[in-house]
Amino acid sequence: MRTKLICSIDEASMILESGNLVAIPTETVYGLAADALNSEAVKKIFQVKGRPADNPLIVHISEFEDLEKFVLEVPKKAELLCNKFWPGPLTMIFKKKSIIPDIVTANLGCVAIRMPSLEITRKLISKLGRPLAAPSANISGRPSPTSYAHVLNDLDGKISAILMGEDCSVGVESTVIDVTSTPIRLLRPGKISPEEISDYICEKIIVDDSVDHSVSNLKEVRSPGVKYKHYSPKTKIVLVKGTSHQFAQFVNSQYNCVSVCFEEDISLISGDKLSYGSMFSESDQLKFLFDRLRRVDSFNLSVAYVHLSSEVKQNLAVLNRLFRASGFNILEL
Ligand code: TXA
Ligand code: MG
Repeated sequence: MRTKLICSIDEASMILESGNLVAIPTETVYGLAADALNSEAVKKIFQVKGRPADNPLIVHISEFEDLEKFVLEVPKKAELLCNKFWPGPLTMIFKKKSIIPDIVTANLGCVAIRMPSLEITRKLISKLGRPLAAPSANISGRPSPTSYAHVLNDLDGKISAILMGEDCSVGVESTVIDVTSTPIRLLRPGKISPEEISDYICEKIIVDDSVDHSVSNLKEVRSPGVKYKHYSPKTKIVLVKGTSHQFAQFVNSQYNCVSVCFEEDISLISGDKLSYGSMFSESDQLKFLFDRLRRVDSFNLSVAYVHLSSEVKQNLAVLNRLFRASGFNILEL
Protein backbone atom coordinates (compact mmCIF):
# COMPACT_ATOMS: atom_id res chain seq x y z
CA MET A 1 0.00 0.00 0.00
CA ARG A 2 1.29 3.47 -0.85
CA THR A 3 0.73 6.08 1.84
CA LYS A 4 -0.56 9.27 0.24
CA LEU A 5 0.24 12.68 1.68
CA ILE A 6 -3.00 14.61 1.33
CA CYS A 7 -4.22 18.14 2.11
CA SER A 8 -7.93 17.73 1.46
CA ILE A 9 -10.43 17.22 4.29
CA ASP A 10 -12.92 15.81 1.76
CA GLU A 11 -10.43 13.17 0.63
CA ALA A 12 -9.54 12.25 4.23
CA SER A 13 -13.23 11.96 5.06
CA MET A 14 -13.87 9.67 2.08
CA ILE A 15 -11.03 7.33 3.10
CA LEU A 16 -12.36 7.17 6.67
CA GLU A 17 -15.89 6.57 5.43
CA SER A 18 -14.66 3.56 3.46
CA GLY A 19 -13.33 2.02 6.70
CA ASN A 20 -9.65 2.87 6.21
CA LEU A 21 -7.13 4.75 8.33
CA VAL A 22 -5.87 8.31 7.99
CA ALA A 23 -3.17 9.88 10.18
CA ILE A 24 -4.37 13.31 11.26
CA PRO A 25 -2.77 16.37 12.82
CA THR A 26 -4.01 17.61 16.20
CA GLU A 27 -2.60 20.32 18.48
CA THR A 28 -1.02 17.67 20.75
CA VAL A 29 0.46 14.91 18.54
CA TYR A 30 -0.54 13.32 15.22
CA GLY A 31 -3.26 10.69 15.62
CA LEU A 32 -4.00 7.49 13.68
CA ALA A 33 -7.70 7.85 12.99
CA ALA A 34 -10.55 5.51 12.14
CA ASP A 35 -14.32 5.92 12.26
CA ALA A 36 -14.91 5.20 15.96
CA LEU A 37 -18.29 3.57 15.29
CA ASN A 38 -16.86 1.06 12.77
CA SER A 39 -15.31 -1.88 14.67
CA GLU A 40 -13.59 -3.31 11.60
CA ALA A 41 -11.90 0.04 10.90
CA VAL A 42 -10.84 0.40 14.55
CA LYS A 43 -9.35 -3.10 14.47
CA LYS A 44 -6.94 -1.88 11.78
CA ILE A 45 -5.54 0.72 14.22
CA PHE A 46 -4.47 -2.01 16.64
CA GLN A 47 -2.96 -4.07 13.80
CA VAL A 48 -1.02 -1.22 12.20
CA LYS A 49 0.40 0.11 15.48
CA GLY A 50 1.07 -3.31 16.97
CA ARG A 51 -0.99 -2.06 19.92
CA PRO A 52 -2.07 -4.49 22.66
CA ALA A 53 -5.84 -5.08 22.47
CA ASP A 54 -6.28 -4.19 26.17
CA ASN A 55 -5.15 -0.58 25.62
CA PRO A 56 -8.25 1.56 24.90
CA LEU A 57 -8.48 4.44 22.42
CA ILE A 58 -9.55 8.07 22.78
CA VAL A 59 -12.69 9.12 20.88
CA HIS A 60 -12.45 12.58 19.28
CA ILE A 61 -15.54 14.75 18.79
CA SER A 62 -16.10 18.16 17.20
CA GLU A 63 -19.20 19.53 18.96
CA PHE A 64 -20.29 19.74 22.59
CA GLU A 65 -23.64 18.18 21.61
CA ASP A 66 -21.83 15.00 20.54
CA LEU A 67 -20.80 14.19 24.10
CA GLU A 68 -24.22 13.04 25.28
CA LYS A 69 -24.56 10.72 22.26
CA PHE A 70 -21.64 8.65 23.53
CA VAL A 71 -21.64 8.88 27.33
CA LEU A 72 -24.21 7.86 29.96
CA GLU A 73 -23.72 10.85 32.23
CA VAL A 74 -21.74 14.06 32.38
CA PRO A 75 -20.88 14.86 36.00
CA LYS A 76 -21.31 18.55 36.93
CA LYS A 77 -17.57 19.07 37.39
CA ALA A 78 -16.84 17.53 34.02
CA GLU A 79 -19.31 19.93 32.43
CA LEU A 80 -17.43 22.85 33.98
CA LEU A 81 -14.15 21.45 32.66
CA CYS A 82 -15.61 20.97 29.15
CA ASN A 83 -16.69 24.59 29.08
CA LYS A 84 -13.28 25.79 30.25
CA PHE A 85 -10.85 23.51 28.40
CA TRP A 86 -12.64 22.24 25.27
CA PRO A 87 -11.73 22.42 22.51
CA GLY A 88 -8.22 21.65 23.74
CA PRO A 89 -5.72 19.10 25.05
CA LEU A 90 -7.90 17.59 27.80
CA THR A 91 -9.30 14.04 27.62
CA MET A 92 -12.01 12.96 30.06
CA ILE A 93 -13.13 9.45 30.90
CA PHE A 94 -16.88 8.90 31.17
CA LYS A 95 -19.26 5.94 31.53
CA LYS A 96 -19.94 4.84 27.97
CA LYS A 97 -23.10 4.24 25.96
CA SER A 98 -23.32 0.99 23.98
CA ILE A 99 -23.06 2.84 20.64
CA ILE A 100 -19.29 2.94 21.28
CA PRO A 101 -17.92 -0.43 20.13
CA ASP A 102 -16.18 -2.51 22.82
CA ILE A 103 -13.00 -2.73 20.74
CA VAL A 104 -12.54 1.06 21.17
CA THR A 105 -12.59 0.86 24.96
CA ALA A 106 -10.89 -2.54 25.24
CA ASN A 107 -14.11 -3.84 26.85
CA LEU A 108 -13.98 -1.28 29.68
CA GLY A 109 -17.26 0.33 30.69
CA CYS A 110 -15.74 3.79 30.27
CA VAL A 111 -14.74 5.81 27.23
CA ALA A 112 -12.11 8.54 26.90
CA ILE A 113 -13.37 11.58 24.97
CA ARG A 114 -11.60 14.67 23.74
CA MET A 115 -12.42 17.65 21.52
CA PRO A 116 -9.21 18.78 19.79
CA SER A 117 -8.58 22.49 19.28
CA LEU A 118 -6.89 22.24 15.88
CA GLU A 119 -9.49 23.47 13.41
CA ILE A 120 -8.64 21.07 10.57
CA THR A 121 -9.20 18.11 12.93
CA ARG A 122 -12.62 19.32 14.05
CA LYS A 123 -13.59 20.16 10.46
CA LEU A 124 -12.72 16.60 9.41
CA ILE A 125 -14.84 15.11 12.22
CA SER A 126 -17.76 17.38 11.26
CA LYS A 127 -17.39 16.52 7.58
CA LEU A 128 -17.38 12.77 8.35
CA GLY A 129 -20.30 13.24 10.73
CA ARG A 130 -18.90 10.55 13.03
CA PRO A 131 -16.40 10.54 15.91
CA LEU A 132 -12.79 9.47 15.32
CA ALA A 133 -10.96 6.90 17.41
CA ALA A 134 -7.32 7.95 17.37
CA PRO A 135 -4.27 6.94 19.36
CA SER A 136 -0.94 8.62 18.67
CA ALA A 137 0.23 7.76 15.13
CA ASN A 138 3.44 5.95 16.08
CA ILE A 139 4.39 2.30 16.14
CA SER A 140 3.57 1.18 19.69
CA GLY A 141 6.37 1.96 22.12
CA ARG A 142 7.99 4.69 19.98
CA PRO A 143 7.92 8.43 20.75
CA SER A 144 4.66 10.04 19.58
CA PRO A 145 4.79 11.94 16.26
CA THR A 146 4.68 15.74 16.27
CA SER A 147 5.08 16.24 12.50
CA TYR A 148 3.77 14.43 9.43
CA ALA A 149 7.37 13.42 8.66
CA HIS A 150 7.49 11.52 11.98
CA VAL A 151 4.30 9.66 11.01
CA LEU A 152 5.70 8.80 7.59
CA ASN A 153 8.80 7.46 9.27
CA ASP A 154 6.78 4.98 11.36
CA LEU A 155 3.81 4.15 9.13
CA ASP A 156 4.79 4.60 5.47
CA GLY A 157 3.21 1.82 3.44
CA LYS A 158 0.99 0.73 6.34
CA ILE A 159 -1.86 3.27 6.10
CA SER A 160 -3.85 4.86 3.27
CA ALA A 161 -3.01 8.49 3.89
CA ILE A 162 -1.60 11.22 6.11
CA LEU A 163 -3.55 14.47 6.27
CA MET A 164 -0.73 16.98 6.28
CA GLY A 165 -0.80 19.75 8.83
CA GLU A 166 1.62 21.93 10.69
CA ASP A 167 3.96 20.65 13.41
CA CYS A 168 2.00 20.10 16.63
CA SER A 169 1.91 23.26 18.73
CA VAL A 170 1.64 21.46 22.11
CA GLY A 171 3.90 18.48 21.37
CA VAL A 172 2.84 15.95 24.03
CA GLU A 173 -0.41 14.04 24.28
CA SER A 174 -3.50 15.38 26.03
CA THR A 175 -3.96 15.41 29.79
CA VAL A 176 -6.17 12.41 30.69
CA ILE A 177 -8.48 12.60 33.72
CA ASP A 178 -11.06 10.16 35.03
CA VAL A 179 -14.17 12.17 35.88
CA THR A 180 -16.12 9.07 36.96
CA SER A 181 -14.10 8.88 40.17
CA THR A 182 -14.40 11.18 43.19
CA PRO A 183 -12.11 13.03 43.53
CA ILE A 184 -11.17 13.33 39.87
CA ARG A 185 -8.03 11.36 39.08
CA LEU A 186 -5.22 12.40 36.71
CA LEU A 187 -4.11 9.38 34.67
CA ARG A 188 -1.74 11.11 32.23
CA PRO A 189 -0.23 14.59 32.60
CA GLY A 190 -0.25 16.96 29.61
CA LYS A 191 -0.09 20.68 28.87
CA ILE A 192 -3.12 21.33 31.10
CA SER A 193 -1.69 20.79 34.57
CA PRO A 194 -3.40 19.16 37.58
CA GLU A 195 -3.13 22.54 39.39
CA GLU A 196 -5.03 24.32 36.57
CA ILE A 197 -7.79 21.70 36.79
CA SER A 198 -8.09 21.69 40.57
CA ASP A 199 -7.95 25.51 40.74
CA TYR A 200 -10.81 25.70 38.27
CA ILE A 201 -13.12 23.28 40.05
CA CYS A 202 -11.93 24.42 43.52
CA GLU A 203 -11.27 20.84 44.50
CA LYS A 204 -8.21 18.66 44.88
CA ILE A 205 -7.58 16.08 42.20
CA ILE A 206 -5.55 12.91 42.71
CA VAL A 207 -2.45 12.34 40.62
CA ASP A 208 -2.34 8.62 39.86
CA ASP A 209 0.79 6.87 41.11
CA SER A 210 1.59 5.63 37.60
CA VAL A 211 2.40 9.23 36.53
CA ASP A 212 5.72 9.25 38.35
CA HIS A 213 6.25 5.65 39.51
CA SER A 214 7.24 2.57 37.57
CA VAL A 215 4.16 0.32 37.22
CA SER A 216 6.18 -2.68 38.31
CA ASN A 217 6.02 -1.08 41.78
CA LEU A 218 2.26 -0.47 41.69
CA LYS A 219 -0.61 -2.61 43.00
CA GLU A 220 -3.29 -1.34 40.63
CA VAL A 221 -3.15 0.01 37.05
CA ARG A 222 -6.03 2.35 36.14
CA SER A 223 -4.94 3.41 32.66
CA PRO A 224 -3.92 0.33 30.66
CA GLY A 225 -1.47 2.32 28.52
CA VAL A 226 0.97 2.81 31.41
CA LYS A 227 1.75 -0.91 31.53
CA TYR A 228 3.65 -0.74 28.29
CA LYS A 229 7.08 0.59 27.37
CA HIS A 230 6.58 3.93 25.71
CA TYR A 231 8.19 6.93 24.07
CA SER A 232 11.43 5.00 23.52
CA PRO A 233 13.93 5.43 20.74
CA LYS A 234 16.21 2.47 19.94
CA THR A 235 19.08 4.17 21.77
CA LYS A 236 19.18 3.58 25.53
CA ILE A 237 17.98 6.62 27.48
CA VAL A 238 19.44 7.58 30.86
CA LEU A 239 18.19 10.62 32.79
CA VAL A 240 20.89 12.61 34.56
CA LYS A 241 19.82 15.03 37.30
CA GLY A 242 22.06 17.91 38.30
CA THR A 243 23.06 21.51 37.59
CA SER A 244 24.19 22.52 34.08
CA HIS A 245 27.82 22.39 35.15
CA GLN A 246 27.46 18.97 36.78
CA PHE A 247 25.68 17.61 33.70
CA ALA A 248 28.31 19.01 31.32
CA GLN A 249 31.16 17.68 33.43
CA PHE A 250 29.51 14.25 33.47
CA VAL A 251 28.81 13.94 29.73
CA ASN A 252 32.16 15.45 28.75
CA SER A 253 33.83 12.52 30.52
CA GLN A 254 31.73 9.85 28.70
CA TYR A 255 32.24 8.20 25.29
CA ASN A 256 29.86 6.98 22.64
CA CYS A 257 26.98 9.12 23.92
CA VAL A 258 24.71 11.94 22.80
CA SER A 259 23.35 14.57 25.21
CA VAL A 260 19.77 15.78 25.17
CA CYS A 261 20.11 18.96 27.13
CA PHE A 262 18.80 22.46 27.75
CA GLU A 263 19.59 25.46 25.53
CA GLU A 264 21.64 26.81 28.44
CA ASP A 265 23.89 23.69 28.47
CA ILE A 266 24.84 23.67 24.79
CA SER A 267 28.01 25.79 25.03
CA LEU A 268 29.30 23.70 27.96
CA ILE A 269 29.13 20.33 26.16
CA SER A 270 31.89 19.20 23.82
CA GLY A 271 30.34 16.06 22.24
CA ASP A 272 27.15 15.33 20.25
CA LYS A 273 24.16 17.18 21.65
CA LEU A 274 20.57 18.21 20.99
CA SER A 275 18.67 20.87 22.90
CA TYR A 276 15.08 20.21 24.01
CA GLY A 277 14.45 23.86 24.82
CA SER A 278 15.34 26.38 27.49
CA MET A 279 15.41 25.19 31.09
CA PHE A 280 12.92 27.98 31.77
CA SER A 281 10.46 27.24 28.96
CA GLU A 282 8.02 24.44 29.76
CA SER A 283 6.19 24.96 26.48
CA ASP A 284 9.36 24.58 24.39
CA GLN A 285 10.35 21.43 26.26
CA LEU A 286 6.87 19.96 25.67
CA LYS A 287 7.02 20.92 22.01
CA PHE A 288 10.49 19.60 21.19
CA LEU A 289 10.83 16.55 23.46
CA PHE A 290 9.47 13.84 21.14
CA ASP A 291 11.32 15.17 18.10
CA ARG A 292 14.60 15.05 20.04
CA LEU A 293 13.88 11.55 21.37
CA ARG A 294 13.38 10.44 17.76
CA ARG A 295 16.54 12.19 16.58
CA VAL A 296 18.90 10.51 19.06
CA ASP A 297 18.81 7.31 16.97
CA SER A 298 20.37 9.08 13.99
CA PHE A 299 23.64 9.43 15.96
CA ASN A 300 23.99 5.63 16.21
CA LEU A 301 25.57 5.87 19.66
CA SER A 302 25.05 3.52 22.56
CA VAL A 303 23.40 5.88 25.04
CA ALA A 304 21.59 9.23 25.22
CA TYR A 305 21.92 11.19 28.46
CA VAL A 306 19.00 13.52 29.07
CA HIS A 307 19.50 16.45 31.44
CA LEU A 308 16.96 16.83 34.25
CA SER A 309 17.36 20.07 36.13
CA SER A 310 18.13 20.08 39.85
CA GLU A 311 17.67 23.88 39.86
CA VAL A 312 14.30 24.41 38.18
CA LYS A 313 11.07 22.48 38.86
CA GLN A 314 10.28 20.78 35.55
CA ASN A 315 6.88 20.22 34.01
CA LEU A 316 5.16 17.00 35.14
CA ALA A 317 4.24 15.98 31.56
CA VAL A 318 7.86 16.34 30.42
CA LEU A 319 9.11 14.35 33.41
CA ASN A 320 6.46 11.63 32.92
CA ARG A 321 7.47 11.08 29.25
CA LEU A 322 11.16 11.00 30.18
CA PHE A 323 10.62 8.60 33.10
CA ARG A 324 8.80 6.21 30.76
CA ALA A 325 11.28 6.63 27.85
CA SER A 326 14.15 5.71 30.16
CA GLY A 327 12.31 3.00 32.09
CA PHE A 328 12.85 5.15 35.23
CA ASN A 329 16.63 4.99 34.77
CA ILE A 330 17.77 8.10 36.69
CA LEU A 331 21.26 9.06 37.75
CA GLU A 332 21.56 11.80 40.42
CA LEU A 333 24.82 13.77 40.32
O1 TXA B 1 -3.35 13.97 22.62
C1 TXA B 1 -3.81 12.83 22.58
O2 TXA B 1 -4.48 12.36 23.52
C2 TXA B 1 -3.52 11.98 21.32
C3 TXA B 1 -4.18 12.68 20.12
C4 TXA B 1 -4.07 11.87 18.85
O3 TXA B 1 -5.50 12.99 20.44
N1 TXA B 1 -3.98 10.63 21.50
C5 TXA B 1 -3.33 9.77 22.32
O4 TXA B 1 -3.87 8.49 22.35
O5 TXA B 1 -2.35 10.05 22.97
P1 TXA B 1 -3.10 7.23 22.92
O6 TXA B 1 -3.94 6.07 22.53
O7 TXA B 1 -1.72 7.23 22.44
O8 TXA B 1 -3.19 7.40 24.47
C6 TXA B 1 -4.43 7.24 25.13
C7 TXA B 1 -4.21 6.96 26.60
C8 TXA B 1 -3.67 5.56 26.83
O9 TXA B 1 -2.73 5.61 27.90
C9 TXA B 1 -4.91 4.76 27.23
O10 TXA B 1 -4.61 3.66 28.06
C10 TXA B 1 -5.73 5.82 27.96
O11 TXA B 1 -5.48 7.03 27.26
N2 TXA B 1 -7.18 5.52 27.86
C11 TXA B 1 -7.97 5.56 26.76
N3 TXA B 1 -9.22 5.17 27.04
C12 TXA B 1 -9.24 4.88 28.37
C13 TXA B 1 -10.24 4.39 29.26
N4 TXA B 1 -11.46 4.14 28.87
N5 TXA B 1 -9.87 4.20 30.57
C14 TXA B 1 -8.62 4.45 30.99
N6 TXA B 1 -7.62 4.91 30.19
C15 TXA B 1 -7.92 5.11 28.90
MG1 MG C 1 0.30 6.82 22.40
